[in-house]
Amino acid sequence: MNATTERKLALRAAVNEWIGGSFPEHRMLLSHDAPVYEPQADAWSVKLTTKRNGVPAVHLGSLLVAHDASIIEAPVPANVLARLPDHATPETPRDAVIGDWYAFHCGDGIEAAAAMPDRSIDLLLTDPPYGISKRYTCETQVPRRLRNDGSDFIMPKGHFGDWDEAIDPHAWTSVVLPKVAGWAVTFCAQAQIGTYCDIFTEHGLVAVGPMVWQKTNPVPFNHKYKPVNAWEAVVVGKRPSTPFNGEMVHNVFVHKSPSPQQRIHPTQKPLPLVAEFVDLFSEPNGLVFDPFAGSATTVIAARQHGRRGIGYELDPMLFALAAERVDAELGKMSLL
Ligand SMILES: C[S@@+](CC[C@H](N)C(=O)[O-])C[C@H]1O[C@@H](n2cnc3c(N)ncnc32)[C@H](O)[C@@H]1O
Repeated sequence: MNATTERKLALRAAVNEWIGGSFPEHRMLLSHDAPVYEPQADAWSVKLTTKRNGVPAVHLGSLLVAHDASIIEAPVPANVLARLPDHATPETPRDAVIGDWYAFHCGDGIEAAAAMPDRSIDLLLTDPPYGISKRYTCETQVPRRLRNDGSDFIMPKGHFGDWDEAIDPHAWTSVVLPKVAGWAVTFCAQAQIGTYCDIFTEHGLVAVGPMVWQKTNPVPFNHKYKPVNAWEAVVVGKRPSTPFNGEMVHNVFVHKSPSPQQRIHPTQKPLPLVAEFVDLFSEPNGLVFDPFAGSATTVIAARQHGRRGIGYELDPMLFALAAERVDAELGKMSLL
């Protein structure tokens, strides 16, 4: 039996909710495969695994889920935790991964920026948290219609974690923008485009305006009730006279979003998209800075494209996962 999109979403949401409730401390380390129909049980089997995170996933047990998304059977949480491999829970956490021309730190990116000299960053390329738990576009919400006539749609479910606390655009930019010598590129909520354009202007940058990341695989939430949201906003500004490396480049960038199985961060951006921005908005050897680095996508793209990449991630659990990704992606690179 093939699952419809709605059923897949309901099954996945039920499993995500179970993972969140059963492993509040370890949910960032866990993932699950797509539901597979089990005719003998007339129910859906879902494999619980470790996040791939650059290494093969480890199977930790399976859930059996009914058609109505109720959990029929689930592994015992203590047994799952006992099977988590050592690499997923490092005993001595690192606080930085530093290599030739890149540095990824566990810490506060705004405080770090405050200590940097003015106009020392060639490209600010970042993606601050904007509170997806509180928006209608988040990816891990539980499908739930509010009105019987279907006129309203899904509500976000719960709080995703401290990393998702929205940050005031004025607060962080007042520290970081004085450090920018060239381009500033920031992802933001669609409703924040005007705010960031105004902020760039206030800090003496040319507010070049919004760009669009169009997703080829948008999450089809409420697809029967409203147009599916298939884009994210990126606002770009620059110090006057900063060169641009493109020619006739359109401001719509089309890329696939990393799937839940591929990503280690809930809002991880596609590496090829971030690499395109690195190429367009900075010069080789330039300093690319990301104060809200998440899974370190910016640091990796910068280093892979011959720039110096520096990033900060505040959440130790996210940092630990991202540090492994940096090891896997950049560990073998030698000095340019
Ligand atoms: C939207 S996510 C970035 C995702 C990233 N673009 C990626 O591809 O993985 C924002 C991240 O900023 C982190 N963060 C929030 N405040 C921070 C701060 N003051 N310093 C460093 N990181 C911070 C959050 O923990 C979260 O992981």
